[in-house]
Amino acid sequence: MKVLIVGSGGREHAIAAAVAKSPRVDKIYCAPGNAGIGQIAECVNIGAMEFAKLVDFAKEKEIDLTIVGMDDPLVGGIVDKFEKAGLRVFGPRKNAAILEGSKAFSKDLMKKYNIPTAEYENFDSPEAAKAYLENSKYPIVLKADGLALGKGVLICNTKEEAMEGVRELMLDKKFGSAGNRIVIEEFMTGPEVSVLSYVDGKTIKIMTSAQDHKRAKDGDKGLNTGGMGTFSPSPFYTKEVDAFCKKYIYQATVDAMAAEGRPFKGIIFFGLMLTQEGPKVLEYNARFGDPEAQVVLPRMKNDIIDVFEACIDGKLDKIELEFEDNAAVCVVLASDGYPVSYEKGFEIKGLEKFEGKEGYYVFHAGTARKDGKIVTNGGRVLGVTAKGNNLKEARANAYEATKLIDFQNKYMRNDIGKAIDDVQ
Ligand code: AMP
Ligand code: GLY
Repeated sequence: MKVLIVGSGGREHAIAAAVAKSPRVDKIYCAPGNAGIGQIAECVNIGAMEFAKLVDFAKEKEIDLTIVGMDDPLVGGIVDKFEKAGLRVFGPRKNAAILEGSKAFSKDLMKKYNIPTAEYENFDSPEAAKAYLENSKYPIVLKADGLALGKGVLICNTKEEAMEGVRELMLDKKFGSAGNRIVIEEFMTGPEVSVLSYVDGKTIKIMTSAQDHKRAKDGDKGLNTGGMGTFSPSPFYTKEVDAFCKKYIYQATVDAMAAEGRPFKGIIFFGLMLTQEGPKVLEYNARFGDPEAQVVLPRMKNDIIDVFEACIDGKLDKIELEFEDNAAVCVVLASDGYPVSYEKGFEIKGLEKFEGKEGYYVFHAGTARKDGKIVTNGGRVLGVTAKGNNLKEARANAYEATKLIDFQNKYMRNDIGKAIDDVQ
């Protein structure tokens, strides 16, 4: 069969690598893709938001299945456009992708259906938000309602910071219309775990857990980024946590969406915080995490096409998800200066050393092909993933493998997965 993947990051490379393993797949296209994806798929120069062009392309090439990796096109309704054209597509429709597209929607949903999450209020006006902040407890958390590249969350330690935050989000429109409405929520503490799942509208199947490092610098210091590295599984995700989430969070979310007339088909990514009072939902995403996909998918044993199709056809109850009994660590190689400012266009050396290296992957994020060479083309450049029998071994393997790659201004964190030493 012929598959089209929509997106261009490390996550889409990990999806493409999983798809390429399926004996059912003859040809993979990726729009727009990147230099690494180009080694296993044919990249097509169409942007992820160019829905009409993507539909035309899928029709012309007789694509059997389109997989949407990114949040923007999902929230924008790409799945509805494909379905309307009679094309098979994996991902939530617009009315379900709102689970990620509007934090106010997802908070109201959780409240209505008693799904554990932080206390909160939604605000459409800066005046009302400021009045609320006069008598709040600090720290407090401000969130832009809409998509903001994962950066629309402000943790404010004082009233002054929070007032300034309201101004940034709602008046200065730092994240554009995403800040027309904000959520103000209780500050929580505890380890954070990412749990990805497949959903077919009624059934949900949980993948192995993962953990992300969002800050730019070692010791979780520095600015928030798209993610500097991940590991899977998370030692914090114990059997007890799993049992709690299965009872109160996962199926409850799927049932709530169905009850609202918004059946969810695709990936639900649960961002959980394990608080003293038990696990609570920090956020939902309607897609694989990036770079969570880079540690979760290499450990999945199933044919991913079978799973995607079961979701589309409402037959996920027939699928038994299987993951390898090992661990994986992904270290992101970035351009020094990310996430603020950085240079691009430097040749990347050593990529060929990963060819045929069992248990190792180099997933491309910001790369491009120039004059026959692969060059840096973004803040996050590559994700180096390695497996091991346990997290410690996987981490040692991943860091050893980062040495195989060289490019000017290469920057990485040196403590991805290190905190797990304290738990194990
Ligand atoms: P979100 O995009 O909602 O996951 O928020 C991004 C990050 O902000 C999370 O991964 C947490 O580290 C932090 N965060 C979000 N909400 C809260 C909260 N209520 N309390 C503490 N930290 C939070
Ligand atoms: N790694 C977090 C995300 O994909 O949103």
